[in-house]
Amino acid sequence: MSFQKCLLNSTYLNIVSLPLPFIYPISAIFPISSAQNPPLYQTLVFHHQLYILEREALFEGRKKSENKAKMGSLEPETHISFNGSCNVTGKNLSTDSVINLDETKGKMGSFEPETRISNGRCNGTGMKLSTDSVINFDRGDPTMYESFWQEMGQRSTIVISGSQSMSYFSDVRNICWFMEPELAQEIKKLHQLVGNAETKDRHIIVGTGSSQLIQAALYALSPSDASEPMNVVSAVPYYSSYPPLTDYLRSKLYRWAGDAYTFNEDAPYIEFVTSPNNPDGSIRKAVVNKSGGKMVHDLAYYWPQYTPISSAADHDLMLFAVSKCTGHAGTRIGWALVKDVEVAKKMIKFIELNTIGVSKDSQLRAAKIIHTVCDGYEGGDTGGVERFFEYGHRLMTERWERLREALRESTLFSLPEFQLDFCNFTGEIRTTLPAFAWLKCEGDIEDLEMFLKSNKILTRSGKHCGADPKYVRVSMVDRDEIFNLFVKRLSVCH
Ligand SMILES: Cc1ncc(COP(=O)(O)O)c(C=O)c1O
Repeated sequence: MSFQKCLLNSTYLNIVSLPLPFIYPISAIFPISSAQNPPLYQTLVFHHQLYILEREALFEGRKKSENKAKMGSLEPETHISFNGSCNVTGKNLSTDSVINLDETKGKMGSFEPETRISNGRCNGTGMKLSTDSVINFDRGDPTMYESFWQEMGQRSTIVISGSQSMSYFSDVRNICWFMEPELAQEIKKLHQLVGNAETKDRHIIVGTGSSQLIQAALYALSPSDASEPMNVVSAVPYYSSYPPLTDYLRSKLYRWAGDAYTFNEDAPYIEFVTSPNNPDGSIRKAVVNKSGGKMVHDLAYYWPQYTPISSAADHDLMLFAVSKCTGHAGTRIGWALVKDVEVAKKMIKFIELNTIGVSKDSQLRAAKIIHTVCDGYEGGDTGGVERFFEYGHRLMTERWERLREALRESTLFSLPEFQLDFCNFTGEIRTTLPAFAWLKCEGDIEDLEMFLKSNKILTRSGKHCGADPKYVRVSMVDRDEIFNLFVKRLSVCH
């Protein structure tokens, strides 16, 4: 064992059970000066500061906790103890190592019932789709990709044994200690292949879907000591989940402040920039552009099947997700690419408090899925199946053509038009083919959602996106048979 490891193990592990008032200064704990060994000293200082922060948080938490219920902070003992990290680092158990047998439990909420009642057999209920089935296009459930993955068969299968993935920890050398190294590697490879985002000098943070990372970003970008909550904005029409994700806990750190176009307060703010945009597919840039602003670039749809890849995105905080990239919404994996290490650390802290990391099983599955996608472009055996992004692009092209064709003569409905752009990934001029159709009623109907509902088509009203109820958002990424039924039914709606 190296001197560094030995020093960290023997000295550091022994002090974890000390109460807060007995936290020693670093010089008393580590018998080494910055001049003797600068890199080691820096490492020790970093760990020491991390430790003190966590002890403080724990001490505060214990003071406030009257009923002894655990509020979900991963206790520092777990963070640094042997039985947490040994699987990954190979450190040896010594007789005075901390043994951590504590646990923390959490529980999460419900799913909208409407989603479960329709799209019949396709949602796993065993029911058959009939001509008068309710079509649920309210959610963007990307089941369109199922047929591709069925064709991939064993090439995308992983087996996880009962003894695998058991620890909370994945890689304690990474600040994102719950991130599986294989997944980080595959994510970098994927971005390099597609050319849609810079990964160099970025921290990759995995989340339980990008929904969790949206909340982690809000937490990380809002100062904890501000007198007023941070304003959170996005340009109308915005992703309908931003307002509830911001406000559902009535946080004192941040609050939903609405449309970015009309935000004119002289106060700090966070702007969600979604490009291509959900719900209308537009290519976007930040609109507020004031000092004190922080941007979250939600690039969930910045993939070649949806839009030309015009450049590698290079923003401070970017979000992606397997749900929209490969269609694996149920795997619940998203990732953030973050420039600033302090922001990254706070996001990691949020995920630690929220879910003590992210399912390893899901991460390993996501890594395998991404690997399969990349492999197709690196000369791997695809078994004669089209490569993933070509497959996705072909389906999206066909669907958009069919929808436009069905509405070509319509005086009741209209769809947005998109510009052509050069795609660096394919070397072709292409148009945007959004995952949602932003359908507008040009007739007298004021509430398009209700009108379509009466025709057994469930959609999301524009009012949830800060827009007029004459608009609805319609999923373009459901299964073929449901999409076919939708186009047929819409074309006879008057
Ligand atoms: C713009 C945008 N961001 C984030 C998400 C959340 O994705 P995830 O499934 O990764 O939580 C969605 C899902 O629809 C989305 O449309």
